[in-house]
Amino acid sequence: MTIVLLGYMGCGKTFIGSQLSNVLNYEYLDLDAYIETEERMTIADIFKEKGELYFRKIEKTYLEALLKQSDKRIISLGGGTPCYFDTMETLIANSKVKTIYLKVSIPVLTARLFKEKSHRPLISHLQTEDELSEFIGKHLFERSPFYNKSEIIVDANQAPTDIINQVVLQLF
Ligand code: S3P
Repeated sequence: MTIVLLGYMGCGKTFIGSQLSNVLNYEYLDLDAYIETEERMTIADIFKEKGELYFRKIEKTYLEALLKQSDKRIISLGGGTPCYFDTMETLIANSKVKTIYLKVSIPVLTARLFKEKSHRPLISHLQTEDELSEFIGKHLFERSPFYNKSEIIVDANQAPTDIINQVVLQLF
């Protein structure tokens, strides 16, 4: 089984993914980090130099290649990965994949992302927390229909240990 963690930027995909990999003894892979290694560029530079459309195409290609590989792996996606092309449908149709949406409230996302927006090209230009909160609200409204197709949806406003317990309970 490949466990795919998805959700908005700042929802904790990377942190929960690496913790969960210890608990389950699964390999862990962060799609953004993988892309940065393979392309030898940061995500911010890929957006700046090659454009968002190029990024959307390669994130799909890399994910498809990874899904053909090993079992017992956790992959955390970028926030937008499941919202482009037919990626979400492809993930759900794959019987070896379990999709998990880490659902976090707008105020929690805003507080987290305001502190770490500089390396995220979609939000780095937003100046105030109010602007960021409004952006997240609208963006999440567009993206939620994709995220909500996940097989497992977890309230990820809780402490990491509670999130991991919820995930494990629903997986097995
Ligand atoms: C994006 C989220 C980022 C990264 C890129 C685009 C998005 O990943 O893939 O900046 O469209 O939401 P994280 O969700 O890991 O920040």
